[in-house]
Order: sequence, then structure tokens, then C-alpha cells
Amino acid sequence: MEQLTNLVVLDLSDNNITGPVPAFIRSMAGLVVLDLSSNKMEGPIPKFIRQFTSLRTLDLSNNHLNGSVPYEIGMLTNMISLFLNNNHLDGVIDEGHFANVRSLYYIDLSYNSFKIELSSEWRPPFRLCMAHFASCQMGPLFPAWLQWQVDIIEIVISSAGIIDKFPHWFCSSLPNLLYLNMSDNQLYGDLPLHMGNMSLDEVYLSSNLLTGQVPPLPITLTHLDISKNSLSGPLPSNFGSPKLAELSLFSNRITGGIPRSLICQCEELEILDLANNYFEGELPSCAGIRAIKNIELSHNSFFGEFPSFLENCTALQFLDLAGNKFFGRLPPWIGNLVRLQFLRLSHNMFSGNIPTNLTNLACLKYLDVAGNGISGLLPRHIWNLKSMRQKHWEANPLTCIYSEPIEYHSVSLYATTKGQQRDYGSSGRIMDLNTIYFDLSSNYLTGELPEELASLDLLRNLNLSRNNFTGNIANSVGAMQFLESLDLSRNDLSGEIPESLSNMTFLSYLDMSYNNLTGRIPSGSQLDTLYAAYPSMYAGNIGLCGPPLKNNCTSTDASKQDHYTRTEQGHGPEFFYLGLICGIIAGILVVYCSLLLK
Ligand SMILES: *[C@@H]1O[C@H](CO)[C@@H](O)[C@H](O)[C@H]1NC(C)=O
Ligand SMILES: *[C@@H]1O[C@H](CO)[C@@H](O)[C@H](O)[C@H]1NC(C)=O
Ligand SMILES: *[C@@H]1O[C@H](CO)[C@@H](O)[C@H](O)[C@H]1NC(C)=O
Ligand SMILES: *[C@@H]1O[C@H](CO)[C@@H](O)[C@H](O)[C@H]1NC(C)=O
Repeated sequence: MEQLTNLVVLDLSDNNITGPVPAFIRSMAGLVVLDLSSNKMEGPIPKFIRQFTSLRTLDLSNNHLNGSVPYEIGMLTNMISLFLNNNHLDGVIDEGHFANVRSLYYIDLSYNSFKIELSSEWRPPFRLCMAHFASCQMGPLFPAWLQWQVDIIEIVISSAGIIDKFPHWFCSSLPNLLYLNMSDNQLYGDLPLHMGNMSLDEVYLSSNLLTGQVPPLPITLTHLDISKNSLSGPLPSNFGSPKLAELSLFSNRITGGIPRSLICQCEELEILDLANNYFEGELPSCAGIRAIKNIELSHNSFFGEFPSFLENCTALQFLDLAGNKFFGRLPPWIGNLVRLQFLRLSHNMFSGNIPTNLTNLACLKYLDVAGNGISGLLPRHIWNLKSMRQKHWEANPLTCIYSEPIEYHSVSLYATTKGQQRDYGSSGRIMDLNTIYFDLSSNYLTGELPEELASLDLLRNLNLSRNNFTGNIANSVGAMQFLESLDLSRNDLSGEIPESLSNMTFLSYLDMSYNNLTGRIPSGSQLDTLYAAYPSMYAGNIGLCGPPLKNNCTSTDASKQDHYTRTEQGHGPEFFYLGLICGIIAGILVVYCSLLLK
């Protein structure tokens, strides 16, 4: 390897190098760039790196290196870039490691198990442009030496164990800072009042202990996430910035209304998450935020009719207004928001009918209007909700962006399934696209359940309880073969419980209680298991009889059921095989589609 002593750049990144850092590089004393990133190297960083006196870039990131960092690294006087991120390195990093690295400009030590011990009085020999220390143990004190880094553009010190006051010297000392991520620490106190005069682009401060008011923002800001803190008071009246694309303030204690400027002037806004605060009042009506994709306003005290500014938001995919004080009718133009995948309006005071246009929402996979004052019939056109049907996969008229799932940004997003509260927010930020959900419970809906309901055969959860539905439950309910939870309790449904229920393989919750159902309960080991888990599932139907209930069927009950089963059987094996073939085809399609999605 003699002839390589003059080698200046060695880039072996993105290979499969295993074992220790290769010893042959020892002889390449003239290296300026050494890039061994994204391999599978193990073992320590060798001490011989000290001899690379001309080295400007050392990139060992994305390997499995372990052990502590040798002090020899501090002798690389000309080093500009040091990337050790995403390894298994540990030990203490102290001032000795930076003794002579006067030229250092970029440093990334993120995702190792370092303990970084740099004293508050330390004056670094370098002036950094970029400092990344995500998941390094830096605290408990805030790294005060950062204030001397007046040229710095990017700071990432998330999950760094800092338990300290938010430093106010940020505004005056770091005028060039564009990107700041200090989320997941225990920073407390106020945000600096003069943040607005900085030139920040992206600020991530979620999951800290910040208090006080949200200050005016820099007009350069594109992303702001201060969710999961204890901020209070109203937002400044001229809040927002023309380039703002993401605003996440969920789970704080912010009061007052949404400033007009936010809804009327932030034309680039795509994500607005204000859930779980004390916001109140009416939403401004103007056509500003046309680019918006996700709106999360749940669990506040917003008031007024269905927000009219939404009419122009045709890029909207995710709308959550749950747990507010909205009232009035759902507007027919809701059907124009054709990209909506998720619509949650539960626990408000909406009234009137379900607009038939709502069934134009061919991308909709999640509909929750529970706990309102909605009346009238369930529109027959619900079969139009194509994303809730298997047939949809054959011919998709509209590009619903399933390959790009909506990101959840909110902890406040609860969905009630199988009688339990599930917190999607903390279980992962990506929406569970398998949960096809339909909940109109606790309203005043009337009339019969339309036969077309059963065509929504991708549904996992169907909750129509606590309404005034009448008539029979059609045997076609069994076509909803993926149903995991079916709640029809507390209606005025009559007739018999359809036999087909006993064939629903995935059903793990069933509630038929408090209706006017009659006749013999269908048999089947699955229904018996469900009954054992939820013994009240048939309660309050005086006409039901037979096991598992204690009351025996009388001869009239029994003859009815016999007649029923006879006619069922009358169709004989053709029907059975037809069903079997459909089932197989559907199964293949589901597997195929889920592979496509992967
Ligand atoms: C921002 O305001 C603070 C406090 O008034 C001041 O110290 C600082 O110099 C200002 N920074 C810029 C970039 O104007
Ligand atoms: C259906 O909705 C009602 C109230 O709206 C709720 O109490 C019940 O638990 C829900 N059922 C299921 C299975 O989630
Ligand atoms: C229950 O259903 C029967 C018909 O099956 C009907 O005659 C009766 O009025 C219903 N009772 C109630 C309380 O709705
Ligand atoms: C139900 O029928 C069984 C036998 O068929 C009988 O032993 C039992 O006493 C009956 N129960 C009631 C409550 O009539």
C-alpha cells in the first residue's frame, strides 16, 4: 500500500465493511477526507488517527463502533467535520477531546451513549456552524459554551437530559441560527420575548416544561413545534409567518382565540395542531390557508358553525374538531373536501341530517360523528365511501395518498374501539391505516339500517349505538367480514339476530343490548366466547331466548327460528361455494393490496 501514502480522499462509505477500522489506512498519512460511514465496523476508534494531521473530514457515522473516543482526536488541528453519529460509542467527552480542533465547523455525535462534560466556563477553540448532540447525555445544565458559537446555524440537542432554564442569550448571541431542536428535555421558564427578531427557520421544543406566553415569531419561520409544554395565555394577535408550514402547539394551556392572521395569511400552512388547549371562540372566516392538509383542533372550547374557511381547503386529508362546542348543520360542501381520509367531529353539538354529499368522500377511512345531535336517516349512498369497500381496490377513481400515510402529531387523538380508549398518538405517529372506522353513536338517527351498509366491507369498527334506528338487522351484515367491533346497542331494532354474525371471524366485540330483538340467539363457538367476555351483550331485549340466555324459547319462538334456518339452508351448497370463492378472491386482493402498500 506504499503507493497510497499520497492518497488524499478515501471514501468507502455505504459498503459492508465489518470488523475493526481497517489497519491499512494507517499508511495513508496524507488523508484529507476519511469517509467510512454506513458500514458495519465494530470496535474502538483507533488511536493512530492522530497521525492524519491534514485530515479535514472524519466520517465514521452509521457503524457499530464501540468504546470511548480517544483523546488523540483532539490533535486533529485541521479537522473541519467530525461525524461519529449513530454508533455504540460511550464514555465521557470532555474539553480534552477538543484541545486543538481549532478548525471544527461541523460536529455530529448524536445517537451514542456519550456523557458530555464541558464546563460552563469553557471557551471552545472552534466556531461551529452545526452542532448535533441528539440523545447524548449533556445535562443537567444547559451547555453554556454554545453562546460563543456566534456563527452557528444548526443546533440539535434533543433528548439530552437538560434540566435548566431556557437560555435567553439565544436571541442576542446566535443571530444566524436557522434550525433549533431542543425537544424532549426538561427546559423550563419562558421563551425569549425577542425571538421574533431572530432569523429562525425551524424550531422544535416539544416535550419540555416551558411556561409563559408564546412570543411573536420570526417572520422567516417555516416549522414550529412547542407541543407538550405548559405554555399559557393567548397567542399574540399578529401571530404567524408567511412561510409557516407546520404549527404544533398541542397539549399546552393556551387560551383565547385563533388569531385571524394565522388562518387568513399563512398561505403555506399544511399542518395546524392546536389540540388539547383552552382555545375558545369562533374561527376566523377567510380563505387563507388553502394548502392545509392536517387540522387538529380537538379538545378545546371552539364555538360556532362548521368552520366556513374549510370550504376552500380541498387539500385537506385530516380534520379533527372533536370535543369542542361547534353547532349547526354539517354543510353540503363537506363533500367537496375529496381528499379527506380522516374526519372526526365527535362530541360537539352538530345537528340536522347527514348531508348526502358526505358520501362523495371516496378517500374517507375514518368517520366519527359520535355524540352530536344528528337526526334523520343514514343515507343509502354510503356505499359510495369507496375507501371503506374492497371493491374500491379494483378501480380507484381518485388518488387517495395511501402510500404516504398521514402523520399524527397529536397525543390527543383518541379513538374508541372495542369499548376502550386507544391513544394512537403515543403508540406511534403514523395513522393506523388498517382501522377503517365508522361511528355515528349517540345521535338521534332514525329509520332502518340501509342494506347498503354491509357493502362497507373493509370496516373494522362500526358503532351505531344510542340512536333511534328501527327495523331488522339484515343477514347481509355478515358480509362485513373484517369487522372487529359491532355496537348496535340502545336502538329500537327488532326481529331476529342474523345467523351470519356467527361467521364473522374477526369479531371480538359485539353489543346488541337494549333493543327489541326477538327469537333464538344464533349458536356458534365464537359468539359463545364473546358472550363469556361481555355477558351483557344481549341484555334488555325481552324477546330473545335460548342459550346462552337462561329463558327457554317457546314453541312459537322456536318455530320462527326453524323457519328462518330452513329458508337459509334452502339455498343450499351453491351459496356456500359462491361465498367461499368470493372470500378467497377478497383474501387474495387484501394480501395483494397490503403488499402494494408496503
Ligand atoms: C433581538 O433583540 C434583543 C433584545 O432586544 C437584542 O439584544 C438582540 O441584539 C436583537 N437581535 C437581533 C438579531 O436584532
Ligand atoms: C359506541 O359509542 C358509545 C357512545 O358513543 C360508547 O359508549 C361505546 O363504548 C361505543 N362502543 C364501542 C364498541 O366502542
Ligand atoms: C317490539 O317489536 C314488536 C314487533 O316485533 C312490536 O310489536 C313492538 O311494538 C315493539 N316494541 C317496542 C317497545 O318497540
Ligand atoms: C328449559 O328447558 C329445559 C329442558 O329442555 C328444562 O330442564 C328447564 O327447566 C327449562 N327452563 C325453564 C326456565 O323453563
